[in-house]
Amino acid sequence: MCGIVGAIAQRPVAAILLEGLRRLEYRGYDSAGLAVLGDSGRLERRRTLGKVARLAELIAADPVSGTLGIAHTRWATHGEPATHNAHPHLSGERCALVHNGIIENHNELRDQQRADGYVFTSETDTEVIVHAIHAELRRGLSLVESVRKVSQRLRGAYALGVIDAADPDHLVAARHGSPLVIGVGFGEHFIASDVFALLPVTNRFIFLEDGDLAELSRDQVRIWDRSGRLVERPLRLSTVSPELTERGPYRHYMQKEIFEQPRAIADTLEGRLMDDRVLPEIFGTQAAGLFAEARALTIVACGTSFHAALVARHWIEGIAGLPCQVEVASEYRYRRHIVPERALFLTLSQSGETADTLAALRRAKDLGYLATLAICNVPESSLVRESDLVFLTHAGPEIGVASTKAFTTQLVALLLLTIALGRFHQLDAATESRLVALLRSLPGRIDEVLRLDATIAALAERFIDKQHALFLGRGEHYPIAMEGALKLKEISYIHAEAYAAGELKHGPLALIDEQMPVVALVPNNILLAKLKSNLEEVRARGGQLIAFADFQVPLEETKGLTIVRLPETDDLIDPLIFSIPLQLLAYHVAVLKGTDVDQPRNLAKSVTVE
Ligand code: G6P
Repeated sequence: MCGIVGAIAQRPVAAILLEGLRRLEYRGYDSAGLAVLGDSGRLERRRTLGKVARLAELIAADPVSGTLGIAHTRWATHGEPATHNAHPHLSGERCALVHNGIIENHNELRDQQRADGYVFTSETDTEVIVHAIHAELRRGLSLVESVRKVSQRLRGAYALGVIDAADPDHLVAARHGSPLVIGVGFGEHFIASDVFALLPVTNRFIFLEDGDLAELSRDQVRIWDRSGRLVERPLRLSTVSPELTERGPYRHYMQKEIFEQPRAIADTLEGRLMDDRVLPEIFGTQAAGLFAEARALTIVACGTSFHAALVARHWIEGIAGLPCQVEVASEYRYRRHIVPERALFLTLSQSGETADTLAALRRAKDLGYLATLAICNVPESSLVRESDLVFLTHAGPEIGVASTKAFTTQLVALLLLTIALGRFHQLDAATESRLVALLRSLPGRIDEVLRLDATIAALAERFIDKQHALFLGRGEHYPIAMEGALKLKEISYIHAEAYAAGELKHGPLALIDEQMPVVALVPNNILLAKLKSNLEEVRARGGQLIAFADFQVPLEETKGLTIVRLPETDDLIDPLIFSIPLQLLAYHVAVLKGTDVDQPRNLAKSVTVE
């Protein structure tokens, strides 16, 4: 999703802006640009379709120099991906602006501005903002006053960075529904969509709140809240080291993140367990009372996080003994609800900035839930700040668009939640102790699964020329099959679908022939006999079956059936174990197909617009 970087410094900022954009590449984008207030007092702008590397080449060929500037990676919403739609947008020779979000009333603003004589050079919703600010500047308002006045007329979501060629000493930023952080340096200040962009220049940050307007000069930051009051926002030190966001010896971030999972899971468990118990306060000091009172749970999430929620439903109902509903956030926010009595509302999100999930949380607050709880990977995110209870997964920064370690650490968090909730309902101490032992064993077990890497890389070759693939699972493995299919389609662009294996004969069986690879998840549980009949249905029709099977499942390789044995595992943690080979499979297929693994086409890491 769009990324913003801005800087006001005593040194040239172009290189800082470019490095910031590179560090935001993981969010997904289609074009990039920057504008610097040149030493001559003129705005110098460079924009391009495509990668930040291309923008860097443009700047190398035609340098810009100045100590105040803004930069942007665009993920098209209004107007096709094209250089003329790339940010920054200019109004006259005076004002330059970068924007993340969507302006809903852009049409009416544009009509008025056309009537006032403004000429539009893009199809974006953004351009109206820069002309509106320009009009206020012309009336003699300062930059910050102009942005304040214009913000009051904007409907929708935005984060903005704005500079005025007539004012070399200020950079103005505003946040309303899209993330924005201020980096605090010595004699210099920065803005960015997230802290990663600024780690090379500072580790001191101020997180803007929704409705905040900020004026940055070289030695000062002033912030006003939505009511126009001058406010102090806390300065926070980031503990993320710049190296954590480096790729190291790995070929792709996704590969690095897959292999980091044993560590990420160990970090997520750290400080959360004591002997054979889950520590009582890991979901917050009020959690115990609320968990005892709770009679139901609703979970809302998007994408991969939604799949983690679907797995959790099996755990919460089967182990903790509470009814659990799961829904995608984009649907949840727009329908009428009957909220179960004394229900908790849980959001799951890697980034904590997904617009639909945030909107669902805000909606839920008016619906009479007992409390809201967020499981999230980003401590300073909006979701974390706006929820009553919070549990942070400690996966570390996830850069690859396709989520891997964030998913498995969410599953770990959800098992901890199952225990913490279940304790007040139907979970006995012996099962808790067994689950804790299994949780502790997870990093070692996942290490073992990762040793299948070469086997799976070889299997991946069978997918290179395929257009479609089917993934089958049952019970809590059905959402894992959905996640496997999502991984494959996201990064290899092969159309992949997941089915609950029992549904095969209700439609997808019609698709099976020798061209259709079918990936099946075969744990050793009570559904095994049923699943084996489903697999027979596929084999009998010539489908190419690849079964990821528990080490002791009685299943023989035959023509049309390849078996990959997983190391010894246990029902209760199976979904985590089975998700790893599917991540590896998608990764290797994408590598073989030569796609952009970490930044797949059309996708964004953090979807901050609706
Ligand atoms: C985007 C990402 C996915 C992610 C989803 C939800 O689609 O590409 O990887 O699962 O957003 O994101 P969240 O940060 O809320 O988990």
